[in-house]
Amino acid sequence: MRTQALVALLASSACLVAAVPATPVSKDKHTSLRLIKTSPSDPGRWVTDEQKITDFKAKGVGFVDITDITDPDVLSILSAPDSEDVALSARAVTYPTAVSHQTVANPLISQVSTMNPKVWLQTLTDYYNRYYKSTYGTQAATWLYSTVQSVAAANPAITVAQFTHSAYNQPSIIAKIPGNSTNIIIVSAHFDSTGGSSTARGPGADDNGSGVVVILEALRVLANAKFKGKDTLEFHFYSGEEGGLLGSAAVFASYKSAAKPVLAVMNQDMAGYSPSGKISIYTDYVDSSLTAYTRVIATAYTGTTTSDVCGYGCSDHASARSNGFPAAYACDEKMSTSTPYIHTPNDSYSTIMWDAVLRHSKFTVAFLVEASYL
Ligand SMILES: *[C@@H]1O[C@H](CO)[C@@H](O)[C@H](O)[C@H]1NC(C)=O
Ligand SMILES: *[C@@H]1O[C@H](CO)[C@@H](O)[C@H](O)[C@H]1NC(C)=O
Ligand SMILES: *[C@@H]1O[C@H](CO)[C@@H](O)[C@H](O)[C@H]1NC(C)=O
Repeated sequence: MRTQALVALLASSACLVAAVPATPVSKDKHTSLRLIKTSPSDPGRWVTDEQKITDFKAKGVGFVDITDITDPDVLSILSAPDSEDVALSARAVTYPTAVSHQTVANPLISQVSTMNPKVWLQTLTDYYNRYYKSTYGTQAATWLYSTVQSVAAANPAITVAQFTHSAYNQPSIIAKIPGNSTNIIIVSAHFDSTGGSSTARGPGADDNGSGVVVILEALRVLANAKFKGKDTLEFHFYSGEEGGLLGSAAVFASYKSAAKPVLAVMNQDMAGYSPSGKISIYTDYVDSSLTAYTRVIATAYTGTTTSDVCGYGCSDHASARSNGFPAAYACDEKMSTSTPYIHTPNDSYSTIMWDAVLRHSKFTVAFLVEASYL
């Protein structure tokens, strides 16, 4: 993530390819370019894969790669102001205003530790980078898939699958704990990284190795306990986030066409750097009711929270939202005090604050248990 407000500045920048209308433009005229949007009103612009990283990601500008998005409903939401929640109302879920499953959640939370996250994050950050179009990125996906499988093996009821993408070789990964109901609760994080260009060293420790090890730790605890909730729990590890939310866009397009009953998507992108010691619940491009519920859970289980906004295309929750699913975003810190190392070679293992990882891991278990009763 980390997008924020450089959009206006960049929109006027002469170095950019001229804006083109998003819909009428023939996408096949630009087979080597990608069409990206940096705001609801941006009609789209064609850029190279490299420009996406060097001219946008590395400069803190959020964007969505819409090249392969053909669904008019999704394109319409991606072009609507953040305040328009209309398209989501058909799926509105009523969320509780208080937590009520502490007796189930607390013993599980007591099993959470940073022992395994430290080992996993060391491996993730040891890849030269996890850029979604690099061989390192593919190798990291292979390692993550086998690691998720071995963590899930504690409960044979859990399934683990790779979700492959046609435009690049780094699959997304989905683990599922079946519940009594087929309604779905999703926690997510992306595992690709960037160091500011396709070839730069990109350890991606906070962004977003930390989110990955947090949801992996939650999976470990629930798998060991053979936890089965009322609702089905899914753990999504997305590829290609830094390329414009590519992995999550494809996963949620597939869920939309299958009309999957998703009751909540809680994305975490950065969970390992928090001078304030407080989880920050972001409030833009999310579902406001689910966001309020997420804050209720975070406050009950971890204490006071903060709030912030992170702009267009900030992280994978935007893909859930544009496909009509209720989404929330929990981050380790407000923008102004968040890690200064993001998207640089300095986003390294040594900068991780393990108390933040522990806090987010406990919060994730709490969220999954509480929301499993929705
Ligand atoms: C799931 O169903 C089983 C069998 O009916 C029941 O014992 C259990 O309490 C249910 N779990 C939840 C969380 O509803
Ligand atoms: C890291 O991943 C989590 C989970 O996907 C997401 O919420 C967060 O925005 C990501 N952080 C960054 C900096 O991309
Ligand atoms: C990384 O850290 C080093 C040493 O603190 C600093 O000199 C350098 O500018 C940093 N690089 C980036 C890309 O932030």
